[in-house]
Amino acid sequence: MGTGPEIYDLHFGTEPDVDNPPGPSAQRLLERQRKVDSNAIAYPRRLPLAIDDARGATIRDVDGNVFLDFFAGIGVLNVGHANPYVLEAVHDQLDQVTHTVDFPTEARVEFIEKLDKIAPGGLSGNSKVVFGGPSGSDAIEGSIKLAKHNTDRHGLLAFEGAYHGTTAGALSLTAGKSYKEGYSPLLADAVHVPFPDPTDSAFSEGVESFCPADNCCGKDVCARALDAVKRKFESPYGGHESPAAIWVEPIQGEGGVVVPPNGFLKGLRDIADDNDALLIFDEIQTGFGRTGEWFAAEHWDVTPDAMTMAKAISGSGLPIGAMLYHEEFDTWGPGGHVGTFRGNVPAFVGGIRAIEYVEEHNLLAHARAVGSQIRDRFRELAEDVEEITDVRGKGMFIGVEFREGGKPAVDLVEQIQLECYRNGVLVWYAGRDKNVLRLIPPLVLTEEQAHAGMNVICAAVRRVTRD
Ligand SMILES: Cc1ncc(COP(=O)(O)O)c(C=O)c1O
Repeated sequence: MGTGPEIYDLHFGTEPDVDNPPGPSAQRLLERQRKVDSNAIAYPRRLPLAIDDARGATIRDVDGNVFLDFFAGIGVLNVGHANPYVLEAVHDQLDQVTHTVDFPTEARVEFIEKLDKIAPGGLSGNSKVVFGGPSGSDAIEGSIKLAKHNTDRHGLLAFEGAYHGTTAGALSLTAGKSYKEGYSPLLADAVHVPFPDPTDSAFSEGVESFCPADNCCGKDVCARALDAVKRKFESPYGGHESPAAIWVEPIQGEGGVVVPPNGFLKGLRDIADDNDALLIFDEIQTGFGRTGEWFAAEHWDVTPDAMTMAKAISGSGLPIGAMLYHEEFDTWGPGGHVGTFRGNVPAFVGGIRAIEYVEEHNLLAHARAVGSQIRDRFRELAEDVEEITDVRGKGMFIGVEFREGGKPAVDLVEQIQLECYRNGVLVWYAGRDKNVLRLIPPLVLTEEQAHAGMNVICAAVRRVTRD
């Protein structure tokens, strides 16, 4: 099959096709779920969606409604739902061997080699990969162990607005209080300092002299954030032992698709180097082409010591959590980081195929082009919708912030999401105050689908903001 069908041939259609969802079958299934499933269920509380089938950037519900999918299973289906090029290899593998712990298979070794090839900057050609458990949180747990093991320190530094997962170590790094309440104490000496929010537009004298970037934006907020990190390492009264590592999402996802100022990640690199700490990029949401590069690190040309990956890694939604790190930190011995499910062969072959599909179909460039197209539509809309206060992101990682009277417009975003759903487009939200519309469509979303979807989204925004 070559490298699979063109992106235009992957979907149920170009336009949404819905009739007043949720229909009767969806309502019945949602009700059955409510009776038996956990109270922890979250997504269907926000969108009453019951899925029957999905292709490319489209989802069909159990009543036959076809939606355009602008959230991709929360950033997982980057090469689209049921990508035939990926699934062909996964199906073949399912009939052979599915689980091998960490015994070598052709697929495992080839996948690791491919990950090394697409790794950012100085990691490529010098990396090792470890698979632990199957989730992003598991990958974060591995990174905490890597940092502790290589520094003999146990403090952790992360950022306000961060989301790194929900297992105990990862939850210690996550900033959202609602995820943590009732589960403390978590890991000791995990500290959070401010992430620079570029919508804070204060400028100050002398910032450039602090910023390591050639193209310093001069934003006070960036200098203040870097200074806070520096003090946690270097101030004798910083309050904690020096952290073993800095964990950062190169672009904060859950925190509101927050793109940091130009010099921020380079500044973190310098501080980590000066203090013998590791710099760890959480690329779980930003990886595998999401931002128009293989990994978001590449936008700023900064090489982390390690990066965590999950979500889109397998191309199919089959779970893998992985960490890729510089070989100099490969100091642990056999069993240094383990887990039963670290040999998911169908997921590996899917991952290989997904990388090939992205390469052969130029999806990085496509993500940049279509992402810009979508952001341009929002910027146009913002000219007469005053509640839109910021449009941001890179590639197909898009955030649109809403405020009313200067305050986060939480209800507005919820209503817009519901209005989009009723009219056949699935979008998600984010932000510390839940006032950011977050768009993370499959990278195979076509220009025509982006246009059709944005017609629905813009109409929904106009309707809701006019009410
Ligand atoms: C940046 C980031 N890190 C970590 C995680 C945790 O991944 P998982 O939900 O697979 O444990 C997520 C999940 O949304 C994430 O977005």
